[in-house]
Amino acid sequence: MRLAGNVIVVTGASRGIGRAVALECAAQGATLALTARDPDALELVADECASLGGGAPRPRCTALDLAAIDGIQRLFQDVFADHGRLDGLVNNAGILHEGLLGMIRAEDVDRVLAVNVRAPLMAMQFAARLLARRKSGSIVNLASIMGTRGAAGLSLYAASKAAIVGATLSAAKELAPRGIRVNAIAPGFIDTDMTRAMPVAAHARRVDSIGMARAGTAEEVAHVAAFLLGPDSTYVTGQIIGVDGQMTV
Ligand code: NAI
Repeated sequence: MRLAGNVIVVTGASRGIGRAVALECAAQGATLALTARDPDALELVADECASLGGGAPRPRCTALDLAAIDGIQRLFQDVFADHGRLDGLVNNAGILHEGLLGMIRAEDVDRVLAVNVRAPLMAMQFAARLLARRKSGSIVNLASIMGTRGAAGLSLYAASKAAIVGATLSAAKELAPRGIRVNAIAPGFIDTDMTRAMPVAAHARRVDSIGMARAGTAEEVAHVAAFLLGPDSTYVTGQIIGVDGQMTV
């Protein structure tokens, strides 16, 4: 129950890493506000969270398309109205874009940057205002190993994740005096819908590049997120933590 009493927003919580983060936080007693695009999938995750016996109320669910700016601020206002506090944010929602440089269209850039950069930046801004009231709190951003290493065919996605690395490092400096910690997790290759959608050959090539010779699990990422949110990491900020099983890309 390391997160009992903590109010935490998790984006992209309907599946994959976000779902695993929600379940881990619920198991540790957190009060959650979950958001994603698919309202039905989100409700199912909320049911799963409630069934874990963490003692917190059933998570608030808000279906939101983070490609649009509307709704993000309202989400934080609603959470504050419900609970009078915020303790953490996990900026997890993200989309993969695969395509060689020559194939990238301007509208792809706008879409990927809107979801992977603009939305988490704005969420950090709204969260920081609330976290500052208590002079404490933790923001965890989902970056990617691609944000620092890059790979052929991932220029746009890697650019979006490099932006998250920069935003994390900068916000950590800005918010440290207010007691707010900001860290990022940089997963390597995790077994979720995002990676299962890859062509078989590309999937196999990626797994071949992992020292531990397997994809990671969403739960292995969630454990690190819970650590960064919780009381065991109160002096950890401005870190980009790889969760990649020694992937070489
Ligand atoms: P996923 O595709 O399984 O789940 C993505 C989640 O984000 C879903 O809940 C989806 O509803 C939400 N989402 C996507 N676009 C959205 C939008 N426009 N508005 C609202 N919600 C939206 O992805 P996965 O694998 O769980 O990834 C989670 C995060 O981890 C992403 O930021 C991803 O870039 C990052 N990551 C994943 C890796 C992997 O190997 N799976 C590796 C490195 C980073």
